Amino acid sequence: MAKKFYITTAIDYPNGTPHMGHAYEKVVTDCYARWNRLLGHETHFLTGTDENGQKLVESAQKSGTPTKEYVDAQVAGFRELCQKLNLSHDDFIRTTEKRHADVASDFWRKLEAKGDIYFGSYSGKYCLACESFYTELQAPDGICPDHKSELALKEEEGFFFKMSKYEDFILKFLRSNPQFVVPKNSYNEVLKRLEAEPLRDLAISRPNKDAWGIPVPGNEKFIMYTWFDALINYYSALDEKQREFWPADVHVIGKDIIWFHCVIWPCMLNALDLPLPKQVYVHGMILAEDGRKMSKSLGNGVDPSDMLSKYPLDTFRYYLLRAISAQSDGSFSEQELIDKHNNELGNDYGNLIMRVVKLSLKHLPAEIEGAGIEKQFDFGDVFERMKTAMDKREHNRALDALWEYVNKANQYVNDSEPWKLKNDPEALKPVVYNCLYAIHGLACLISPFLPHTGPATLASLGVQASSFDTIKFGETSYTLSEPSALFPKIM
Ligand code: ME8
Repeated sequence: MAKKFYITTAIDYPNGTPHMGHAYEKVVTDCYARWNRLLGHETHFLTGTDENGQKLVESAQKSGTPTKEYVDAQVAGFRELCQKLNLSHDDFIRTTEKRHADVASDFWRKLEAKGDIYFGSYSGKYCLACESFYTELQAPDGICPDHKSELALKEEEGFFFKMSKYEDFILKFLRSNPQFVVPKNSYNEVLKRLEAEPLRDLAISRPNKDAWGIPVPGNEKFIMYTWFDALINYYSALDEKQREFWPADVHVIGKDIIWFHCVIWPCMLNALDLPLPKQVYVHGMILAEDGRKMSKSLGNGVDPSDMLSKYPLDTFRYYLLRAISAQSDGSFSEQELIDKHNNELGNDYGNLIMRVVKLSLKHLPAEIEGAGIEKQFDFGDVFERMKTAMDKREHNRALDALWEYVNKANQYVNDSEPWKLKNDPEALKPVVYNCLYAIHGLACLISPFLPHTGPATLASLGVQASSFDTIKFGETSYTLSEPSALFPKIM
């Protein structure tokens, strides 16, 4: 039976238009989903929107639209982004859906029955943008470390999850599972905070002022705190049959929401006797070109939709996956994107395909068989190196390895000088076959990263997509057709 692989993005707050961080996280997650499909794993990829927060109500009020209408319209923009990014997600969950509310209510009841939920009061400093309380240690000056805005004192009466009870569990779990949080610095950050301050109980309800959110079972004067319900999406999205995918293999998130995923969520699941996800992969943040956080007030933001209307999707994906290091923050530079398009995609990759296929079509029959041809080009260990990098959640290094292979293929073409053999089809054919074999492997391995380019290349060779392992020298016949320019130069 095929190995199952379940991967998720965070679910986005749809109270603005999708930003570059959203696009980045989705592209990264999509690349791992496609990679796992290439490996033959039965893959489930979930993304979606986080819609129950108070800030959605406030944004709707500001826009003068009823909340439901406002949220529906906003979510359409997020779905559209998924489409524009050619995401291969299997499901898109909205936390306002019944399937989600049902599971969240069920979880609540189970925790209550276990004695893990109690009624009490709490006062603390709150950031609405994060929908989160901050402790003295996290925000000693009363300023949100993420949004740099003043925290509001919030006194609450409501329901609490007895998270303190799970302090020993989570400490032990994290200490004995260092691979649970990738990269290492994120793992260290969580552990350091856990070791520095006692784990407190978590406020998990809000007064039901706006009739927006999931009502607390048995007490409709309250609704669930949005983070409590949001985390549950990873489980609620799976129907009974899909529950085989649980536990998730990887939750892909940004570093501002580590605590929720690496501490709160595992404590909730443990309290519910459910298996924990295998890993939380924390990607870096996309910064503006000036190295600062993209923000409307600074005017340094780059809209992913603008980029997608100006450049080919695969150029955008390649730039995000290769130029931004998988495990640290990176600045978005449109000029660098253009340079990568022209040099790496256009010159290195596109020209390789063009010159080999065009030359062959001009001087040989369209069908090139491999029988009896001597193997001169070897894939080497590129696949293993890519696999290792992908397992470590270092997709940019996987692309580095792939690009060494692109260069090697170009070198092979240069060294074997097929253009000098154009009048000697017998001598030309083996060289061309070796080149096509190199391109075949390349197109296969590039597909999870560039889902248009890979299949388009395979189509010009007249072969179907397949797993890399099944590409065997001499066994495939290529039926060539004129390739369309994949990456026309951007001036
Ligand atoms: O946090 N670069 O939603 P969100 C890279 N609803 N990633 C970024 C980013 C940036 N500049 N800015 C944000 C939420 N992100 C919650 C999640 S999950 C149960 C609930 C990432 O719309 C961010 O870290 O603010 C998060 O992983 C995702 O985008 C959604 O952020």
